[in-house]
Amino acid sequence: MEVQRGQWSSKMGFILAAAGSAIGLGNIWRFPYVVGENGGAAFVLLYLIFVVVIGLPYMFAELALGRFVQRNPVGAIEAIRPGSLWKGVGYLGVFTGVGILSFYGVVAGWTFGYIFKLMLGVVGDFASFIADPWLVIFLFAFFIALTASIVHGGVEGGIEKWAKILMPVLFVLLIGLIVYANSLPGSGEGLVFYLNPDFSKLTGKIALEALGQAFFSLSLGMGLMITYGSYLSKKENIISSALYIGFFDTLIAIMAGLIIFPALFAMGASPNEGPALVFVVLPDLFLQMPGGAVVGVFFFILLSVAALTSTISLLEVQVAFLVDEKKLNRKMIVWPAAGFTLLIGIPSALSQGSVDFFTNFGLIPERLCAPDFLSQMSFLFGTFSLAFGALMLSIFIGWVWGADKATEEILQGSPSFQKTHKIWAFMIRYFIPIIIFILLLNIFGIFN
Ligand code: TRP
Repeated sequence: MEVQRGQWSSKMGFILAAAGSAIGLGNIWRFPYVVGENGGAAFVLLYLIFVVVIGLPYMFAELALGRFVQRNPVGAIEAIRPGSLWKGVGYLGVFTGVGILSFYGVVAGWTFGYIFKLMLGVVGDFASFIADPWLVIFLFAFFIALTASIVHGGVEGGIEKWAKILMPVLFVLLIGLIVYANSLPGSGEGLVFYLNPDFSKLTGKIALEALGQAFFSLSLGMGLMITYGSYLSKKENIISSALYIGFFDTLIAIMAGLIIFPALFAMGASPNEGPALVFVVLPDLFLQMPGGAVVGVFFFILLSVAALTSTISLLEVQVAFLVDEKKLNRKMIVWPAAGFTLLIGIPSALSQGSVDFFTNFGLIPERLCAPDFLSQMSFLFGTFSLAFGALMLSIFIGWVWGADKATEEILQGSPSFQKTHKIWAFMIRYFIPIIIFILLLNIFGIFN
């Protein structure tokens, strides 16, 4: 009955895959634009607090559950509490993966397209690029196909090796760009916007957005870390692994902001560009900098690779579910699963000016997010569903499975957790669910 499951070949392999999942467009595309939309530094500070007091302790819980049960999110819940309604939380996680991948893949397609735009040296206007329906759908489909072919062929060999080489290159490139952007006249104001908090700007909606972004960036709230934890050996240290992942993920996001905001203010543009922000600011920066065209091509290649390690993880959750629970053949279901996600993503691809209905979709009220279908998906799945999923999963792990069982699991491989497990149990059972619950009340406009 037991199906032979894979395992990470080493601790490094796991950390790279999980960090590869976490680091992606969320850090370099989504983080700067939500910071811009939500007023700057106060949001950044709140985001950092949420990463430390909610994201990281919550990540321990997902990893522990995954390693304990060795299953996808649905199977994990079923193994602990068979036949209960809790299973719905697992399904929600799997579906959230589809929802995120459906709009994330569209943006990954834009990123890929920009490699060629910069290569040819004709960047043109971003707004008209994303309003070109066939081009955008083609790039989106291409990126999803690339993701599917890697998930189909096995993750360990190719992509891990490339990621290992290319991610440090991205890091160095970001440092270079920070130095350059901050040397531009007028960039100082950008730093003030980014780093000098004005707390009078904080609202309940902004706090929810900061929490959602913390979950999104760390790949939490939908069981991805349950899935990746399920391939983890008992010898590995869950605590230190999670701390590495959280540290690098947060560092890359902060670095992206240190490029975007100084450059943006130096160009006299507005931080309120929404999803277009990095695509408008960065190419301009590259085109005016000496040798910038080459740097730009390089940058968008690296960003595409970062996005690819994230799209792989998003597709992997669906695939792990279908393989474990439906006993389907991995190689056979990868392409249909990717095709399904592609279909769901078409409205997002068409929502940036090409089709009016999707551009002004507006089902979710304006006070919560922009009306275009892509932004609505991003809010529904990338913010709300992750926060809600994390609320349910922290209750499930803290109370149903039990914080003491989770603690036992974490202690294997992390003996020093002995010193802090009481605080952690309090956080996973009370602090984390209560804070998330309060922030979710915003959806109903109870306070803002
Ligand atoms: N964390 C990724 C990013 O920042 C996106 C992502 C990949 C994700 N897998 C996830 C988000 C799982 C939530 C859940 O780009």
